[in-house]
Amino acid sequence: MKILALSGALRRASVNTALLRAAAMLAPAGVTVDVRTLHGIPLYDGDVEAEGIPAAVTTLREAIRAADALLIATPEYNNSMPGVLKNGLDWLSRPSGEGGKLFGGKPTALVGATPGGFGTVQAQDALLSVLRAFGNDFWMGGRLMVSKAGTVFDADGQLVDDKVRAQLQQFVAGFVGFVHKRST
Ligand SMILES: Cc1cc2nc3c(=O)[nH]c(=O)nc-3n(C[C@H](O)[C@H](O)[C@H](O)COP(=O)(O)O)c2cc1C
Repeated sequence: MKILALSGALRRASVNTALLRAAAMLAPAGVTVDVRTLHGIPLYDGDVEAEGIPAAVTTLREAIRAADALLIATPEYNNSMPGVLKNGLDWLSRPSGEGGKLFGGKPTALVGATPGGFGTVQAQDALLSVLRAFGNDFWMGGRLMVSKAGTVFDADGQLVDDKVRAQLQQFVAGFVGFVHKRST
């Protein structure tokens, strides 16, 4: 099984990208987790689109299409998802109708991490309304909202909190079970 893991953060030291890297390490045997970011995707502009979909968008689109499932890690900015992530999803939804074609029925799960105390709950909720527009097959069986991420990851982005590691492992296993069940 191939899971495309998309980080909504661009920072090199992003705790959300670190969370996805940790998920890749903890995935069950036979499951590969390919961590991607939104680097290189310009701001959505209809004039740019008219000249052609940017290569970074096409590359990411093909990777998502080829994956069995999608795992998104979203930071929380001002009680919502970062503009970078929404912008990436907006590009992936173009030309019109492409969002449903690409994401419709795609097994999808959300996670998020923040140094704050509320674990990206509002960013994840905001992202849900976008997934509803695309028709993703959203996994409702688990939630992972990592608070106080400053102590959960060390300076090298390694997950050093045993409780969160166990939660992440359980989350990934649950999602993988969901994806397996759909395909049998
Ligand atoms: C513009 C901006 C707004 C933010 N708003 C929130 C917020 O509403 N809730 C929250 O928990 N953290 C907020 N933060 C802090 C982010 O959670 C923190 O920067 C986090 O490390 C970003 O994720 P990353 O490490 O994956 O880049 C905000 C950060 C920025 C830059």
